[in-house]
Amino acid sequence: MRSLLMAIKMVSINDFKAYLGQEVLIKGWVYNFRSSGKIAFLQIRDGSGFVQAVAAKDLVDEKSWQMIEEMTIESSVEIVGTVSKHPKKEEYELQVKTLQFVQKAEEYPIGKKEHGPDFLMEHRHLWLRAPKQWAIQRVRNTIINAMYEFFNAEGFTKIDSPILTPSACEGTTELFEMDYFDIGKAYLTQSGQLYLEAAIASFGKVFDFGPVFRAEKSKTRRHLTEFWMLDAEMALFDHKMNLDLQERLIEFVVGKVLSLNQNELMLLERDIEPLKKIKAPFSRLTYKEAIEKLRQLGSDIKEGEDLGNDDETLIMRDEAKPLFVEMWPLKIKAFYMKRENDLALCADLIAPEGHGEIIGGSQREDDFSELIKRLEEKNLAREPLEWYLDLRKYGSAPHSGFGVGLERLVGWLCGVHHVRETIPFPRTLNRIYP
Ligand code: 4AD
Ligand code: MG
Repeated sequence: MRSLLMAIKMVSINDFKAYLGQEVLIKGWVYNFRSSGKIAFLQIRDGSGFVQAVAAKDLVDEKSWQMIEEMTIESSVEIVGTVSKHPKKEEYELQVKTLQFVQKAEEYPIGKKEHGPDFLMEHRHLWLRAPKQWAIQRVRNTIINAMYEFFNAEGFTKIDSPILTPSACEGTTELFEMDYFDIGKAYLTQSGQLYLEAAIASFGKVFDFGPVFRAEKSKTRRHLTEFWMLDAEMALFDHKMNLDLQERLIEFVVGKVLSLNQNELMLLERDIEPLKKIKAPFSRLTYKEAIEKLRQLGSDIKEGEDLGNDDETLIMRDEAKPLFVEMWPLKIKAFYMKRENDLALCADLIAPEGHGEIIGGSQREDDFSELIKRLEEKNLAREPLEWYLDLRKYGSAPHSGFGVGLERLVGWLCGVHHVRETIPFPRTLNRIYP
């Protein structure tokens, strides 16, 4: 049997079209099956796609049929068969000739019955195989590639920022801290932004992409303790240019997902009509206008307060496209933002359909003494940031940037309610396993 298999071409399910009528070998997993005793239908997944294999008792050899009768969910198998096409649809099938186990799976813990989220999260290593979970990660992959493509075309250089850092970027209450040899404390990065600000004097326009960490004690459907952020930083960009770039990025990414992930979006039952409307420009509200609007809509938010999850959902009630909320009170924003009176030249970009803030960005404070004042106001130590202050001494220039939260973006485009499904192995307040 072995030698016979060797002679037959092994193909990916994705490429079936090119092998119509031919005998091929596939290797994959049986994610579902049913049998009448005479004919069996096996749902096969090989990583490239999904296909139904049809085995008729009198057309396969005895040994193969025996294995089909012993079939278990998620067994790994090798199948030789002929590629056939649905008479009307663009769908292919495999007419089985022989089948053998690579490994016959034990009883699979994820059954057909409904499981609660805790059970599924505890089995994330297996749940990742479910078609919807596959689809979400495929969309995530498209988004990552689209962002790289966009920034490359815009003349950006990718600069890798460090994960271990001597200070906070986004405030000290959400920092993961560790002992760092004889030096003292080190922290897991919250964002590569500050390092990108150093890089722009050398490269002009830069971006990074990597995991960031927030010791957030919030148990919401939008918060992870480890998530992936793309930071972009641009020399000689002001606040408005910053927003213009962000909306073009989002339009580009949504367009890529719509054109490359039709199957995935269908599997996710994602209504794509709202996504088709995502074209720049996006509306812009000042923070002050946003607070007024929220109060009109029934929120009890007061001026000077941050928008909570519910406010972010409420303010998007009548918005079809993402919305910029700009010019926030300096007091509730990070130390590095450029000041205009007592406001910060910044914006949060809020996604429609209840997915919350997907981008946070700002023009940066480029004046040395102003930055020192801000550090003092926020009670932040100057010493670990001396290098950052240096940037304001040697050729300081206006600059701006932003950070995209990948999981929220994936959640929005996939129409997934909770961000824990948008990352392969989520880390939250109460989960570090698997
Ligand atoms: O708004 P944030 O905190 O901005 C920064 O970190 C800036 N330094 C970025 C920059 O200007 N380069 O975070 C950026 C985005 C948010 O808009 C949100 O989408 C996401 O990161 N985010 C989270 N996603 C999941 N879980 C969390 N705990 C998140 N916190 C922020
Ligand atoms: Mg933010």
